[in-house]
Formats: sequence, structure tokens, C-alpha cells
Amino acid sequence: MAAGKGKRMKSDLGKVLHRAAGRPMIWYVLDAARSLGPEKTVMVVGHQAEAVRETVASGDVEFALQEPILGTGHAVAAARDLFRGFSGQILILSGDVPLITPETLREFSRFHLDRSSRLTVMTMRPENPAGFGRIVRDEAGAVVGIVEDGDAHEDQRAIKEVNTGMYLVEATLLFSLLERIHADNIQGEFYLTDMLHEATKDNVPIHGFELKDPLEAIGVNTRSDLARVSGVLWNRIREDLMESGVTLLDPARVYVDYQVRVGYDTVIHPSVTLAGATEIGRDCVIESGVYITDSKIGNGVHVRLGSRLDHALVQDGASVGPMAHLRPEAVIGKNARIGNFVEIKKTSVGDGSKAAHLTYLGDSFIGKDVNIGCGTITCNYDGKTKHRTTIRDRCFVGSDVQFVAPVEIGAESVIGAGSTITVDVPPRSLAVARAKQKNYPLRKRPEPNSSDEDRKS
Ligand code: UD1
Ligand code: MG
Repeated sequence: MAAGKGKRMKSDLGKVLHRAAGRPMIWYVLDAARSLGPEKTVMVVGHQAEAVRETVASGDVEFALQEPILGTGHAVAAARDLFRGFSGQILILSGDVPLITPETLREFSRFHLDRSSRLTVMTMRPENPAGFGRIVRDEAGAVVGIVEDGDAHEDQRAIKEVNTGMYLVEATLLFSLLERIHADNIQGEFYLTDMLHEATKDNVPIHGFELKDPLEAIGVNTRSDLARVSGVLWNRIREDLMESGVTLLDPARVYVDYQVRVGYDTVIHPSVTLAGATEIGRDCVIESGVYITDSKIGNGVHVRLGSRLDHALVQDGASVGPMAHLRPEAVIGKNARIGNFVEIKKTSVGDGSKAAHLTYLGDSFIGKDVNIGCGTITCNYDGKTKHRTTIRDRCFVGSDVQFVAPVEIGAESVIGAGSTITVDVPPRSLAVARAKQKNYPLRKRPEPNSSDEDRKS
């Protein structure tokens, strides 16, 4: 079920598309469902149906459109046509309950099949049952219904056992029960939970499977729930990383998204975020305040304090930062060194090259073993279009040089400090492009003892 609006999120974005640990919530639920190898997977979409479809975009999922959106019972009924002729068991999951694990789902399904159950509901006993539907049992302890939080009277609210929103139901029973439910409740919705009451009327026994760890069934209804869920996911990822040989100096302060891969013997300092499809090799050091997204980092790389890397590639042995900014299509070669306050965009820096301080390299190609002096800038933009700068192998660029692109510097050339290079430089040349220094004698020496007041006037 992924059709709800998620009013309580107060968002323009559909609830199941909100991200937890870097991934839309709905993906986690889908992965959990897939882990059982189902014959068929149907997702009910409604609110922002197109966006949800696009996000999921997968050949193994069929979509049922729920329109209008009238409650969870109505949602499941919307899938009826896609289950025509299907007589097996249907696992119902909620798109907003993303922490459920494959292990639990396997246990759940074993429980259901072992008892030849026709209707099993997954229950739990969380510390605080508020907000959840309560499980109603009869004197003999058999499950006979679910009463929603808003509809429950006081003694029902005191019930500690609640509905996780996950069920296993025999297909034919499910759709026949759903025909009988009504929207006569406080929310005016067709509650899926009412199918239990209907089953009880027909003397169909209902089984309750109790989830051991209520953390797995946190439902995301508010931003606060989303934060809790993200916290649990991040914790799982941190544990996996440490298990695989990554050192986290202060695990709680490292945020690693779901897809990220990190090699063993890498050390991650506090306050680091690794997002998107980032891959980090072995034996790296990632210092504090570093944010890396969708980037690939080789082995033995050192990323120093406060750097940001976005769609960048950094090869083995290189060092980046402190305070460096690698923007999309920055490629840093092996053992290259990118120092403080260096910004690099759409630029490949060859193996062993250095840009150690205060530099902007954009739309350029830097060969191997090049030294880029402090304060160097590629002037890539003429106000309309971007142009390329090429600096071939083993060039030495002095400090404070501007390359007015398009321009190409041949191999092994030297550029004098302070030059503004506007034309190509042949290989093995010295280029100096700056006004020649002249020294003039001063007629009057400045007063060494003039006060601040005098200087202002
Ligand atoms: C639901 C259960 C409640 C349970 C809780 C567990 C009902 C009536 N209540 O409440 O007993 O304790 O989950 O988390 O089922 N959805 C649709 N179409 C709709 C309405 C909802 O697809 O018309 C989807 C939502 O996108 C969501 C899921 O169903 O993924 C659950 O809906 P939500 O409104 O969050 O139900 P809860 O109030 O959490
Ligand atoms: Mg919910």
C-alpha cells in the first residue's frame, strides 16, 4: 500500500517517497517483499501515483491505481483485478513501515503456513501504543478484531498489543471480506483492519504473530517518525561497516547512506556524511566535516577536514583538502594532491600532480606531475560559454596565474608567477605575461609617526 497522502508529514512530497538513509522509504518495503520471492508483486499507488511509479520503475512490480483514496481497505481492494485467478496467500505490507527485515517476513510466512492459517496479522507490543490500531482478543485469547486509535474507547486504548499493518491473507478470503467493509468510523475511511471483524463473524480463525522487535514496525506518519526510522537504518549501516572492518571513531556521528560501500581499514572521523552511490576504497582516512556524495574514492586516499566531493573520482593514494571542493566530473589522479581552498569542476588532474592552495580549475585537463601554483585560476567562462584549458605533463605553473581559456600549455613548460596567459604556450617554454617591474625613487618619504586620525583625513 503506497497510495496515501501522508497528511501528517505536512509535505508536497508523497509520504512513501520521503528518504530514509538516502533511499525512498518505499524501496525498503519492496526489497523486503522481494526477499520472499513472491509470485507477483502489486503496489497500490494513488497520491502522486506517477512519481511513485517512476521511483519504483521495476519490471517485477505491477501497479494498481487507487482513485479516489479512501483508506487502507479500499487500497487493497484496488488490487483485486490484478489478483484475478490467484488463489495463494497475499502478504500485505505498508509503504510507510520500511524497517521490516526479510528474516521477520520469512518467520511470519512460516508461522502462517505451518498453521494453515487463512488470516494472520502481525502484532507487536511497543513501549507506547498510541496511534496504532489495538488488537482485540476474546476471553480465550483469540484475535477477533482491530480497533483504530481514534475509534477506540478508553479501555480499548489501554490495550498494549497493536497492529503493525502487516498481514498474510488467503487471496479469495481477502477480497470477499473487503466487499463487506464500510467507512462508518471517525475518519470516514474503509479500514483494512475491519476485515478481521468480518472474518470473526464468519468464524474464520485469525492468528496473531507477535513481532519480537517493535523497532522493525515503526510506521512513518510524521517527520519525527521519519527521523527515528532513519536513525535505525543508519545504525544498521554503521554496524555492518564496523563488522566489515571499517573504523568509525564516533559511530553515532557518521551518516552513511544505504548504497554506500566502504573498504576495510578505512578510518572515518566524526561528523562525516557519505551519501548517494559513493564508493570508498581500503585504507582511506576521511576526516571530520567531510561530505561525499555519488563519488568514487580509490584505496589509500586521504580526504581532509571540511571537504565536499560531489560526483568526483579520486584515485589511489591521492589527498584532498582540507576545505577542498570537488564538483561533478572532477577526476583526481593517483597520488595527486589537492590542497586547501581548491575548487575543481569538470577537470581531470593527472597522476602525481599538485594544486596545493587557493585554486580554481574548471573545464580543464591537467597532465601528470604538473605543479599548479597557489592562487591559479582557469578563466573558463567568457560570459556566454565555457572554454577548456589544457596543461600538459610536467608543467610548472607559478603562483597567481590566470589561464584565459581556450588555451593549451605544452608539456614541460614553465609559467611565470602572476601571468595572465591568453595564448597557447609551446612545449618546453617559459611564458611570462605580466607588466615588467619598474622601481621609482620616492620624492618624499611617508611620515612614519603620523597618527591614525591623520591618515583618515
Ligand atoms: C494503519 C492501520 C493501523 C496500524 C498502522 C501501523 C488501518 C486502518 N490502520 O494505520 O491499525 O496500527 O497502520 O502502521 O489500516 N494507504 C493507501 N491508501 C489509503 C490509505 C493508506 O495506500 O487510502 C497506505 C499508505 O500510503 C500507507 C499505508 O497504507 O503506506 C498505511 O496507511 P496510514 O494512513 O499510514 O495508516 P495508519 O494510520 O498508520
Ligand atoms: Mg501509517
